[in-house]
Amino acid sequence: MPQPNYPVIQIQPEWVLEPEALGSKQKFWFRSEDKETEWLFKFPEPNTGQHWAEKIAAEVAEILDIPHARVELAVFQGTPGSATESFARHGWQLFHGNQILAGKVLGYDPQKRFQQSDHTLTNIFAAISAALPVEQPDLRNAVWSARAKPQFTEYLVLDAVIGNTDRHHENWGVLLRRAGAEWQGMPAPTFDHASSLGRELLDSGRGLSRERLLRERRVGPYSERARGGIFWETTDRHGLSPLELVRRAVPLYPELFRPALTRLERLDRQRVQDIVEPVPADWITTLQRQFAIELMYYNYNELLKLRL
Ligand SMILES: Nc1ncnc2c1ncn2[C@@H]1O[C@H](COP(=O)(O)OP(=O)(O)O)[C@@H](O)[C@H]1O
Ligand SMILES: [Mg+2]
Repeated sequence: MPQPNYPVIQIQPEWVLEPEALGSKQKFWFRSEDKETEWLFKFPEPNTGQHWAEKIAAEVAEILDIPHARVELAVFQGTPGSATESFARHGWQLFHGNQILAGKVLGYDPQKRFQQSDHTLTNIFAAISAALPVEQPDLRNAVWSARAKPQFTEYLVLDAVIGNTDRHHENWGVLLRRAGAEWQGMPAPTFDHASSLGRELLDSGRGLSRERLLRERRVGPYSERARGGIFWETTDRHGLSPLELVRRAVPLYPELFRPALTRLERLDRQRVQDIVEPVPADWITTLQRQFAIELMYYNYNELLKLRL
């Protein structure tokens, strides 16, 4: 049965609040007149599918029960993009991975965005076992959620399904808020999935195109060659592909990964197609759709092999 298209928010100029400085893309916060929450509108980089990648990723997370920021397709002054609902509300404040790592891992450089090989799973787990943002010494007694590590492994499984290569240290975080004399902490929902689903490829033309990768059945190798934002060893030159990261981590942390891997049973080829299908036809090309489906289906099948 054909499904209704995903809705598209038409952003009115008077809703615009302020630009967001963090991250690489142009974007701004807005609030519609009838909504309480703020949303972040992100312009996709030209000739990429970053906007539909954000939406599809959020829908995959939803099916897998992985806490995620809500995403809708949105148009601002004729430009299509994505809108992400803020989860930093009701007093909760977002602290990024780099702030947490800098407070816990000796010598961690929070400013280093590229080739940050200290951004390893081991270091991340060490840091979020007892999060303490470096510039907030009064958070020493924060009541820390036991969900942090299991939730982070859920993000890794999501990244592996959608081929998210951008899980760097400002693309995950924790939420903290003061509760009387104490601070409460919990992992932030996952956000920024713009760099996934082969969003950077061109449909056709010279070199590596979607058309060619599909025709030559090279979607698998494309996925395996990806370089992600998390390193395995601090001496490695590149981050692991999101799929390989999960392959290596599952034997080390089987109990942490078991729930998310088990929930993969909710996906199959039809479900994957059903998630991509409602992106309106004027937002995504047929090849972009096909490639996103094949990539997720390949990744999904590889992940099924790891089920415990
Ligand atoms: N849903 C959200 N709620 C609260 N803050 C957010 C949310 N999404 C993004 N942010 C903040 O905005 C920053 C930039 O957004 P992000 O989606 O990472 O954009 P970019 O693709 O440019 O890196 C994030 O690092 C985070 O600080
Ligand atoms: Mg980001």
